[in-house]
Amino acid sequence: MQPDLAETNNIQKLISQIGGGLDQFLRFEHPDAVRPDANWREYLDVSLPQHGVGIDQVVEDLLKQVIPNGSPIPKPGFTSFITTGATSASVLASTAASIASPQRYGITSFNLLEDVSLRWLATMCQIGHMQGVYSSGGSVANLLALGAARQHAFEKLGHDAGAHGVTKPVHIYASAESHHTIQRSAGVLGIGRRAIQDIACDSQGRMRVDALRAAIEKDRDCGIVQMAIVACAGTTNTGAIDPLNEIGEIAKEYGIWFHVDGAYGLPGILDERIRHLYDGLEMADSVIVDPHKWLGAAVGVAATFVRDRQLLFRAFTQEPADYLEGAIEQTTDSAPTIEHSLDDFGVPYYDFGVELSSPCRGVVVWAMIREIGVEGMAQRMRRHNDMATFIAKAAREHPNLELLLEPTLSICCFRYVAPGVTDLDAFNRQLHRRLIRENQNMPSTTLVNGKLALRPCFVGARTSHEQARALLNDVLRIGQELALNLT
Ligand SMILES: Cc1ncc(COP(=O)(O)O)c(C=O)c1O
Repeated sequence: MQPDLAETNNIQKLISQIGGGLDQFLRFEHPDAVRPDANWREYLDVSLPQHGVGIDQVVEDLLKQVIPNGSPIPKPGFTSFITTGATSASVLASTAASIASPQRYGITSFNLLEDVSLRWLATMCQIGHMQGVYSSGGSVANLLALGAARQHAFEKLGHDAGAHGVTKPVHIYASAESHHTIQRSAGVLGIGRRAIQDIACDSQGRMRVDALRAAIEKDRDCGIVQMAIVACAGTTNTGAIDPLNEIGEIAKEYGIWFHVDGAYGLPGILDERIRHLYDGLEMADSVIVDPHKWLGAAVGVAATFVRDRQLLFRAFTQEPADYLEGAIEQTTDSAPTIEHSLDDFGVPYYDFGVELSSPCRGVVVWAMIREIGVEGMAQRMRRHNDMATFIAKAAREHPNLELLLEPTLSICCFRYVAPGVTDLDAFNRQLHRRLIRENQNMPSTTLVNGKLALRPCFVGARTSHEQARALLNDVLRIGQELALNLT
């Protein structure tokens, strides 16, 4: 079948059909993708088609086979990962960007919104003095921040590490609770994963400042480039916030780059009850935050902030390419006017990171903040933090529950305690699998000081107190049933 231009251009009709299917999906009435009578694998996993079936059939396949068998992540009761279902504003804005602006270059509304939204995001997160760049997720955002740190550390030695690579062994001091993608960043940057020095944490999951100082002192004067200290504003495991003030002071004292990974937890600064935990953030040399986590963006949006983006430029710039240099008439002294959107590249985001082609992510962040404002975001953070506190209170008070860690943000670590059961880890693991199979309230598990914990992480825009209460009821009901079966 030949492509029909009239039909492929009929975006309005097609989007409204898919919109209907997505509305249906968001009622969450469908069963899990893996169920005995599911046949989507056989339908979808077929050999390469030589002839097309046309857009109507593609839309029908999306509606019948693909969308209903999607991920449980957007469900309000899904609290396993720090990934969430996208808000409607975010979905609409990213759809608009994918149609109306497939790149970030040129003088376009989308390119402008990259900058506007980065400024809004920085101001909202109280790092308004910093400059940012978007990337695909926390992993890449951390990579960019550490790329800036590498550039900075070697420039101090008179060496351009972006151009020539690293010439000496390097150490990065990171909380033992920091995200494992920090190690990968070190690998990608040519420093090596083993460059990461794990700094021990206290029983609350926060970096121990005495251990940090000892590790830095041990490496003094032995030819190691002390490249960065990596602290967390909201660890993935428990939501702990490292003592940023004390760590920042140490970074200043030793002249080491101070990076804060706030991929998940930075927006928690909007909850004024815990804002003081972020004191010291102003000392950071780089900070990351992922709008696709707690802020509700469709997946694929993270931001790296540094004091001066020129450092990112020197770390990541591409060498010139003829086809790009000629594609756009860059404004110069001899061609100073901009009369067409292709008379200038606009802000060269492609030189501040590792992506040349990239979606316009700024419009997504702009749309989300414009929709509900800083106050709307703050309300959401408070609601989610309250949900974690609600579970914590119940776990403290109920004889069959145990609170394993006081929540800092929107994660609560607790477990069921069945009288007479000695292996509570195995018991709670079984309880957790039952929760997942029931397909309604789905936390993850983690280890807290060696004990297996149920770990709901409340980040979904569609999640409310109803889900916190339902999770608690499910844990108590399943715990009771499992305990009865043991007697
Ligand atoms: C604190 C932290 N940093 C970095 C990451 C990596 O982010 P992404 O999965 O977006 O690459 C995560 C993921 O959960 C995280 O929690």
